[in-house]
Amino acid sequence: MKIAFFDTKPYDKESFKKYESSDISFKFFETKLNIDTADLARGCEVVCIFVNDTASGEVIDKLYELGVKVLALRCAGYNNVDVKHAHKKIHVVHVPAYSPYAVAEHTMALLLTSIRRIHKAYIRTKDFNFSLAGLTGFDLYGKTVGVIGTGKIGRVFVDICRGFGMRVLAYDKYPSDDIGIEYVSLDELFAASDIISLHCPLTRDTKHLINGDSIKKMKKGVVILNTSRGALIDADALLEGIKSRHVGAACLDVYEEESDVFFEDFSGHIVDDDTLARLISMPNVIVTSHQAFLTEEALANIASTTIENVKQILYNGVCQNELCFL
Ligand code: NAI
Repeated sequence: MKIAFFDTKPYDKESFKKYESSDISFKFFETKLNIDTADLARGCEVVCIFVNDTASGEVIDKLYELGVKVLALRCAGYNNVDVKHAHKKIHVVHVPAYSPYAVAEHTMALLLTSIRRIHKAYIRTKDFNFSLAGLTGFDLYGKTVGVIGTGKIGRVFVDICRGFGMRVLAYDKYPSDDIGIEYVSLDELFAASDIISLHCPLTRDTKHLINGDSIKKMKKGVVILNTSRGALIDADALLEGIKSRHVGAACLDVYEEESDVFFEDFSGHIVDDDTLARLISMPNVIVTSHQAFLTEEALANIASTTIENVKQILYNGVCQNELCFL
């Protein structure tokens, strides 16, 4: 079995290398999968992709023509794959859960960094500047956090917030009754939350869930956290919210146009995306580069589940983590 990996980084090679054997061989490509690069998969039965690869209908047809049988996502979200188009052509499998803790903990790390100005303090003390001017934060204890999406990651984040003594409100299209969460409407959540954290998938329903209108419904000074998918937020509307001082802070691990920049080193270059550049320039915006998943535990789980998914499809014809043919 030959697997072509797209958009690979050194940590991908590291976590997958122990699965290489006389039966399984890997071809690692740094480039992302798209219609111009799909031909690199020639000779491989399996293509393994990540969040910013593009598996549109056109790309799927190309892979099918090349004889690819399985498209294995080494991630949970699959908004970058035309799953319907793949039906009856290529099996699509994903890793539904690898470490909800990794993402939820990163979300809290971003929140604490932002509201306690750790990012500013770190740079100051590195330069032997021990002034505290401008570093005043606020307590999380007693604040209200609104969690949108109470699936695997959202639930862990809810527990973490409860540990800080916060009041938790939630909105989910399919609320769960087993975790004692106070569900409210989206508008109620917007109006009552000091902090809003996004943990729902990107769908037609949720695209630009945070937009100019929803921001107007939020409390002045609200802190917005997004470790889910970039397009949940209309970035230009967020920028306006920051400029008007209505939004107190934003922590973004994802960004709608991230596929052109995230995971690459653009230091020393001029970044073309004015919205991203302006957001990054704000003192109350923290951007990480789709890093929330990146823990040793998550990488190990991603590798083992991906290999198991592929083996199940190729050897048994079925896999519980298949996204189509269900
Ligand atoms: P999950 O499927 O366990 O939970 C998603 C929740 O969102 C479910 O409870 C679902 O009912 C809810 N939901 C669906 N449609 C909704 C809507 N229209 N409005 C409100 N809620 C809705 O997914 P999980 O594992 O918790 O992941 C959440 C998201 O986190 C993923 O979709 C993915 O985009 C993102 N993610 C980001 C990572 C990163 O490194 N930054 C890593 C892994 C996932």
